[in-house]
Amino acid sequence: MYRVIQWGTGAVGTEMLTAILDHRPELRLVGARVYADDKDGADIGTLAGRDPIGVCATTDVDAILGVDADCVLYTPRTARVDDVCALLASGKNVATTAFMFHPRRMNPADRDRVLAACEAGASSVHGSGINPGNLSGVLPLALAGMSRTIETLTLQERADWSVYESTGITFDNMAFGQPVESISPTATEFLAFNSSIFTEQVWFIGDTLGADLDEVTATVEAVAAQRDHQIFDHLLPAGTTAGQRWKWTGLRDGQALVEIETLWTVGNEYPTHWPAPRHGWTLTIEGEPSMQTHFVALASFSRPASMAEHVRSANVATAMQVLNAVPAVCAAAPGFATTAALPLIYYGNVFGRQP
Ligand SMILES: NC(=O)c1ccc[n+]([C@@H]2O[C@H](COP(=O)([O-])OP(=O)(O)OC[C@H]3O[C@@H](n4cnc5c(N)ncnc54)[C@H](OP(=O)(O)O)[C@@H]3O)[C@@H](O)[C@H]2O)c1
Repeated sequence: MYRVIQWGTGAVGTEMLTAILDHRPELRLVGARVYADDKDGADIGTLAGRDPIGVCATTDVDAILGVDADCVLYTPRTARVDDVCALLASGKNVATTAFMFHPRRMNPADRDRVLAACEAGASSVHGSGINPGNLSGVLPLALAGMSRTIETLTLQERADWSVYESTGITFDNMAFGQPVESISPTATEFLAFNSSIFTEQVWFIGDTLGADLDEVTATVEAVAAQRDHQIFDHLLPAGTTAGQRWKWTGLRDGQALVEIETLWTVGNEYPTHWPAPRHGWTLTIEGEPSMQTHFVALASFSRPASMAEHVRSANVATAMQVLNAVPAVCAAAPGFATTAALPLIYYGNVFGRQP
């Protein structure tokens, strides 16, 4: 039995909560850290739309630090190294969707603080998800198992965020709806943070597969909306940012060897000059052999489902990649438990046989 704390009960955190309550008898919820005042003191089961479990969510970080737990599922909108260090130093392992994907290329001062906290608490930390995570960290390695040689590896993510309910992330963090001139890899603290985690992923692939990269560059092209769009309770006005094409490119001797490209829109006006891969993720390896795989997560391939349900399925995938890692993270030696270091992550009873 693993005692877990949920830190953040947004879109991804809620998928973790419902999975724990409905499908993971080996995990027991012993706490939840929330930010919203109206969630403070609420029963965690009720917050997740389930029966009460007799454990309440709290905005009080000290109270969370005092709870005895094996692992914290850390899924806030804006991640803080200080939070994670405090959790690790208190003896709790941390599994997160937000950052800590490739410590070798993290800010060295942050990395040292995290390592000191792991040492103090004999704890470990793992960062993963869907992208960054499985599609940029697990799948490339899995395909590389069939490679004799690789010349280039590219991952393209094409997504329209109009139906992504986390509008705080879309508008406040990712700056959709802002002037196109204001979008750059260093424009805001969050855009810089976001760019740094994808940069880390390119380094991760390059370092793990021996690309011997000299540098990883980040560029973004922002595209303006032709007309107004209503996105949940947000108006995205015509003329403001409705498309962001990011590229994080790993170069050796000036040649692009590893690249992650995102083709993100809000309002579904797809720029005609952009490449048009299928929606979802396309991983392409040029080499011997050359390989390509396309990934999409949907609510179902067979039954009818709403667009909102389909979109939620990417949150489910993000959440499960990290939730399913809890036993491995708890078993890992103190320090960073990276995707390359952990065993392949899966839940052994995912078909749900009865005990
Ligand atoms: N690796 C991947 O593939 C991947 C994919 C998707 C998302 N993510 C990351 O996962 C995390 C959660 O995403 P999400 O879609 O669940 O986001 P979300 O729906 O916007 O959830 C936001 C969460 O942030 C909390 N919050 C509110 N104010 C905050 C503040 N000032 N500082 C920090 N957190 C605050 C909310 O608290 P309450 O609990 O009170 O509501 C909620 O738990 C984000 O860091 C996101 O970037 C990673």
